[in-house]
Amino acid sequence: MSTIQWFPGHMAKAKRQVQEQLKSVDWVVEIRDARIPIASKNPLIDQIIQHKKRLIVLNKADLADPIQNKLWLNHLRNKDTDAIAIDSKNNKEIKKLRHYLLEVTGGERKKWLDKGMKQKTIRLMVLGIPNVGKSTLINQLTHKKSAKVGNRPGVTKGQQWVQIDKDFSLLDTPGILWPKFEDPLVGMNLALTGAIKDTHYYSDDIALYAMQFMMDYYMEDFCQFFNLSEEEAQPPYPELMMSLTNKMGMKDDYERFSDWLIRELRSGKIAPMTLDRYEDYRLEQAEEGSADD
Ligand code: G4P
Repeated sequence: MSTIQWFPGHMAKAKRQVQEQLKSVDWVVEIRDARIPIASKNPLIDQIIQHKKRLIVLNKADLADPIQNKLWLNHLRNKDTDAIAIDSKNNKEIKKLRHYLLEVTGGERKKWLDKGMKQKTIRLMVLGIPNVGKSTLINQLTHKKSAKVGNRPGVTKGQQWVQIDKDFSLLDTPGILWPKFEDPLVGMNLALTGAIKDTHYYSDDIALYAMQFMMDYYMEDFCQFFNLSEEEAQPPYPELMMSLTNKMGMKDDYERFSDWLIRELRSGKIAPMTLDRYEDYRLEQAEEGSADD
């Protein structure tokens, strides 16, 4: 299946817009979805932010596999990237982020003091692809209940700086980047986590892919959720999908079942899951001889 498309035009527009915003920023807070740390990375991000200081936030860590969270964090930090995994809906975790921000920006502050410069606030900007939690994080940091910011590159509402505390101020509009989904697998991971719109794919394709993925990595949780024995949970998966649709009282309405299954998976009700597997990533990198993160 490949009904999912990638539009280079969107990417170019987003890039231009973000580069403009970046001029007045000291630090970038790049948000990725902890379930898809690779698929939710904009491929041009390094080129876009260049030498700006950056903190990577693996957001929605509560929905991701805790073991994978640790592996990805270690990986990023081993590459000298400041990174943290949080659930930005949780106040305690927002405090954890504030402490971490203070810690990682400490060097900057010291540099200013050593130069005899007046202490100023560090200007932050949140950046990321749609649905990774940019608005949630901004609203939490600024104690706002403001409406969601438009999720389309090119949509910029009046921007302003919001003082978070004496140390930080934050641009109240996030930089919106476009995901790259030329690779069908990346496209499906983006669809399954809700990063791309439902109109871009057929839900039964995504549900089938998701079932297969769950069988490969979270079979026990999946079987427990549906009260399935291991013998029942066997391929071919289209048949399993038919029997689960029936079991859930949806007769032969596979589309309804697919939409429901995707919602259940996205909300973490079946299991916290990480779609971008660290071990697979390492293998691919070793084969390709590259070290992109
Ligand atoms: P965006 O600005 O990057 O597009 O993302 P946004 O903050 O709108 O968040 C997208 C969805 O993800 C929202 O759910 C939001 O509540 C949820 N979310 C954000 N951060 C986290 C997190 O760390 N953990 C969890 N579990 N969810 C998170 P929604 O269903 O679209 O809206 P709502 O009904 O929750 O308001």
